[in-house]
Amino acid sequence: FTHMQYNVQRLGFAAVTKEDMVFFDGLLSGRLVTDLDILEASNVDWLRTLRGHSQVLLRPQTTEEVSQILRYCNDRNLAVNPQGGNTGLVGGSVPVFDEIIVSTAQMDNIISFNTNSGVLICQAGCILENLNNYLEEQDFIMPLDLGSKGSCHIGGNVATNAGGLRLLRYGSLRGTVLGLEVVLADGTVLNCLSSLRKDNTGYDLKQLFIGAEGTLGIITAVSILCPRKSAAVSVALLGCDSFERTLDIFKESKSMLGEILSAFEFLDHSCRAVVCEHLKLRNPLQESPFYILIETSGSNSDHDQEKLNHFLEKVMSCGLVTDGTMATEENKIKAIWALRERITEALVHDGFLYKYDISLPLERIYEIVTVMKDRLGTRAKRVVGFGHLGDGNLHLNIVAEAFDQQLLDSIEPYLYEWIAQHCGSISAEHGLGFKKKNFIHFSKPRAAVQIMQQMKVILDPKGILNPYKTLPSFSQ
Ligand code: FAD
Ligand code: MLT
Ligand code: ZN
Repeated sequence: FTHMQYNVQRLGFAAVTKEDMVFFDGLLSGRLVTDLDILEASNVDWLRTLRGHSQVLLRPQTTEEVSQILRYCNDRNLAVNPQGGNTGLVGGSVPVFDEIIVSTAQMDNIISFNTNSGVLICQAGCILENLNNYLEEQDFIMPLDLGSKGSCHIGGNVATNAGGLRLLRYGSLRGTVLGLEVVLADGTVLNCLSSLRKDNTGYDLKQLFIGAEGTLGIITAVSILCPRKSAAVSVALLGCDSFERTLDIFKESKSMLGEILSAFEFLDHSCRAVVCEHLKLRNPLQESPFYILIETSGSNSDHDQEKLNHFLEKVMSCGLVTDGTMATEENKIKAIWALRERITEALVHDGFLYKYDISLPLERIYEIVTVMKDRLGTRAKRVVGFGHLGDGNLHLNIVAEAFDQQLLDSIEPYLYEWIAQHCGSISAEHGLGFKKKNFIHFSKPRAAVQIMQQMKVILDPKGILNPYKTLPSFSQ
């Protein structure tokens, strides 16, 4: 963990005392964790690139407990790091110094589910996959799906405004989240847990907390609109020769599959090599420079199948696609999805990862992979591109044998400048967290950052909530 430049000074927060520990232990009836192994797991991020030094992990079960924790921390000037499943990829979920970790792990109750409206209300610590399994039993699904579904919490998803594999179909959490309950820094409980689709009464405050990465409040409960489970799901994996062709296939899929298209993902041949090499997954297709994963979901399998067949015939006969396979059976669908969903896991086995999550206009989206390959040459072990093509979101990952500061200096800020010049975003869906907060100016004008800083001061005047994250320090 020596590579991250911790070019940040600890702010003047109080340090946790024995008296504080006694207070928390009493409040939480023993759900204060000081076990070193558990603390280690909560201090280190999923990518294992950052390590904080918190000595205290709190596991509240109720909103009232979260409220009392924050009121106490605010009075005592103790810094707090909200934590869900700790799967975040930008260092937002782990402390930088000795911030108290407030985990939602024990806030995992489903509060209600309405089968008429499809509105689910649950506590923030529910694991995404558990929620989806619960809904599937009732013929519904969650409107989002991520490779980290087995660990990430819905509160963490909302706090990061996670995108993922279903955004193309069901839109962002900014639309599907109908209400939130949030505890503010001073312990105030803000109950905006509406389950209405339409509610234009004043400012939509919940939007402030969606994507705020725990810097404005702790989300304790979520109300979310869930779609029906589709009766027919099919997945196709296609190979093609060039990136331009993947775009042609995308256009064709929008026109021919229309309302049943539910995912359009892509990976390049290096990603395919990494998942096959490190996870021993089998590639069902012949070698191709690019692979596309298309999913369709609809209500009538005959109708959907016919549409998909027409589409596949068209893209194969005109040579856009060089090879392809299709699945309607659950196990086969899962096997195809694994080739895409498990890239992140495979890359971690490959070496040290420089991870970038970029939005760009579709026409230029893959160009940056080639630009970085040329720029870094043999200093990078691999430069790979994959992602949510249908959403204009590229995951550019650069792998090296070990961390190398010179390599990092060759990547940044050059990459961010390139993205800004091409009207992209330096963080499409992962957020800014600790790693990227100082690059916010590449994607937002100064006036916008200033308003964000003013909002932070209004909601968290002492700055105790997730300090050192998301916003650049005031001097910048
Ligand atoms: P954490 O990692 O614990 O926290 C993330 C941030 O949210 C932190 O800043 C934390 O302080 C804050 N936070 C957490 N809970 C709360 C709360 N209750 N209230 C306020 N703030 C809170 N992301 C995508 O967008 N799309 C993907 O497709 C995707 N795929 C992934 C695949 C893998 C294999 C992995 C490891 C990660 C992936 N991610 C993806 C990133 C990550 O899973 C998401 O950002 C996820 O939403 C984080 O949820 P979490 O519960 O793990 O939050
Ligand atoms: C994905 O789409 O697989 C995730 O966002 C994870 C990643 O970017 O590594
Ligand atoms: Zn992603």
